[in-house]
Amino acid sequence: MKPFDPTPDTLTPEGMAVIDGIILSHGGDSTQLVGILLDIQAAGERKYISRSAAAYTARKLGLKLTQVYDVITFYAALYDKPRAKYPLEVCSSAPCRVNDSDSLLDTLQNILGIGLGEVTYDGRFTIERVPCFGACDVAPAVRVNGAVYGNLTSRERILDMLRQLD
Ligand code: FES
Repeated sequence: MKPFDPTPDTLTPEGMAVIDGIILSHGGDSTQLVGILLDIQAAGERKYISRSAAAYTARKLGLKLTQVYDVITFYAALYDKPRAKYPLEVCSSAPCRVNDSDSLLDTLQNILGIGLGEVTYDGRFTIERVPCFGACDVAPAVRVNGAVYGNLTSRERILDMLRQLD
């Protein structure tokens, strides 16, 4: 069954139920807003917080909408615009750079024909630079929707990784 999406422009009852469940899992605690928003973002297919999801969350937590947007704007890991189905997060921290994450980045851009932050025409891929996500032992690495793909040291390995996402 297709997972339902709590982040469309207009929230469905299912979307509201997803957000209700996430808020409940955080004890309804508005001080956990960052974690709540990260979970809402992760539950949606396009991995962002829509305006309707932000407004519903604010209302449920007794916050102002501006407080929710302050958090979304402050945290680089939160997005208020739809992302690709597969955001390719390339680690930009030192151990990965020493292991040539710059080449990895170039190869990804070359294969997909997009620059950093751009989305492929079919909405499937985007490329982002992020700080270390703890996969330094398999550097250079990419993280995609929480899954880590390491040792991407050749074009063949990178193509293999992309095929696994098809
Ligand atoms: Fe790249 Fe840690 S330095 S994952």
